[in-house]
Amino acid sequence: MNIRQLLSDKVQAAMTAAGIPEQCGPVIAPSKKAGFGDYQANGAMAAAKRMGTNPRELAAKIVEQLDKGDMIEKAEIAGPGFINLHLSEQWLADRLETAERDSRLNIAPEGEPQTVVIDYSSPNLAKEMHVGHLRSTIIGDALARLLEFQGHKVIRQNHMGDWGTQFGMLLAHLSDKLENNDAEVALADLEVFYREAKIRFDEEEGFDDRAREYVVKLQSGDPECLKLWQQFIDISISHSEEIYDKLNVTLKRSDVYGESRYNDDLPVLVEELLDKGIAVRDQGAVVVFLEEMADKEGNPSPMIIQKKGGGYLYSTTDLAGIRYRANKLHADRILIVVDARQSLHLQQAFTAARKAGFLPDSVSLEHCAFGTMMGEDGKPFKTRTGGTVKLAALLDEAIERAQKLVAEKNPELGAEACAEIGHKVGIGAVKYADLSRTRTNDYVFNWDAMLSFEGNTAPYLQYAYTRVRSIFRRAGVEPAELTGAITLKTPEERALAIKLCQFGEVLQQVARDTYPHILCSYLYDLASAYMAFYEACPVLKEGVSEEDKQSRLRLCDLVARTLATGLDLLGIEVMEKM
Ligand code: ARG
Repeated sequence: MNIRQLLSDKVQAAMTAAGIPEQCGPVIAPSKKAGFGDYQANGAMAAAKRMGTNPRELAAKIVEQLDKGDMIEKAEIAGPGFINLHLSEQWLADRLETAERDSRLNIAPEGEPQTVVIDYSSPNLAKEMHVGHLRSTIIGDALARLLEFQGHKVIRQNHMGDWGTQFGMLLAHLSDKLENNDAEVALADLEVFYREAKIRFDEEEGFDDRAREYVVKLQSGDPECLKLWQQFIDISISHSEEIYDKLNVTLKRSDVYGESRYNDDLPVLVEELLDKGIAVRDQGAVVVFLEEMADKEGNPSPMIIQKKGGGYLYSTTDLAGIRYRANKLHADRILIVVDARQSLHLQQAFTAARKAGFLPDSVSLEHCAFGTMMGEDGKPFKTRTGGTVKLAALLDEAIERAQKLVAEKNPELGAEACAEIGHKVGIGAVKYADLSRTRTNDYVFNWDAMLSFEGNTAPYLQYAYTRVRSIFRRAGVEPAELTGAITLKTPEERALAIKLCQFGEVLQQVARDTYPHILCSYLYDLASAYMAFYEACPVLKEGVSEEDKQSRLRLCDLVARTLATGLDLLGIEVMEKM
């Protein structure tokens, strides 16, 4: 159990003993300021209000009943009724010793693991992946890694857009191209290919009819046409996979579960919703009217699930997807990581799915929304000429810039080391810049800021890691060889100890709230606490006792491993040197 839970249980028990009603919680939070204890219990004020008594007196009663055990050194009342909790040094030191000897840093896997489906990346295969999918890919992958580390069963679902009328025009164009080229060559640049097909569709006599024929053939399962489609899809997926590889993203081919997989279920689903009276025919289309989401005038929110001509929509597929994930994959929790601009769509899909009884009430449906990636001009990220930015090129630029920086900082590194480190730094920078912002906000893409070695950036944390690791090289010991006890003598050691102990509760919070920036802030704070410790507490200097050296080296080891683990959960690699 983490500190927060332990304190919560203790204070709750004291509150009960003090005659406070069950519903009043202890409200435990880490203290923000030095001198106010390590944690605070803030529940006395609300409890006093409810009971109509004096909050300070009630706080005193709680303190009186508090079983401090060997965990709490002292509990003090402050202000209107805060309880400041000071943890015992010995208790902290013991806890860190256990963590240091444990490969999981003493973070127990979740006692009640869930099956969590995460729908992320999900690019549209007709075109190349763009920056919106970059955000989904980075954020989704971090959540997948973290929830897996927490012991949950994570099922990745790459809900690729692999179906729809635009494939008619693409396949018509592809079949022409295949007369002279093989598919790899024809589809080497998807953007160019799409543009060519679109121009023909708009301008070339008869091409639009052929495109429509292809749509019909595709939908009726014509084998030739399906073969062509499969070729297109395979090549387009491999384009995405190049990006995943470069990005160190865990998505595999087997995680692809594209929109087309739901095709057979769509007519069944529409029929079922009509039968249940949840959907109605309206001017030739099939619509679900959601009173639950009515506007101010009381007009229900309309969600079309079948078009007039019989075609199905994005919404139909999403309904089928929710049903599949809940009933076939047995998800306890479904996370969909997609742009905030799709909020209305998903809210409708969630509401309709619940209304239709497509999933047990206990299943949690969550839209993990994110804002837009902006250029420095404050407008959505585009190339200088206003085109969409090619992700592969963007990532190459990140790597190149980072390699240059690394070579400047450390001219002794050989070309090979520089290339490898530059790759990790460049990719780390792009990912961390995204993950460290509150995901629901827009954020400005800025090379200099993300590649800076100062501040809350990947290079700063990667560098902090290498600095800690270099101590072991200089000391000529491996962490496994350390024998002495951990002691926390100075305020800096103590502050670092508390930070280290908080890793588990931070992970728990991110797993619950799905905001990776909380982990980023934590790692940055940890690195800062380490820097302060390193300034104040010499490790290898002459005159430092063997005892202190051992203790401090063990703290260093914990810092290095916590940073590496935390960054790994964000999908960011560390290295021994940079
Ligand atoms: N392919 C969609 C897009 O590019 C994203 C799909 C997200 N997932 C979902 N179940 N709707 O906008």
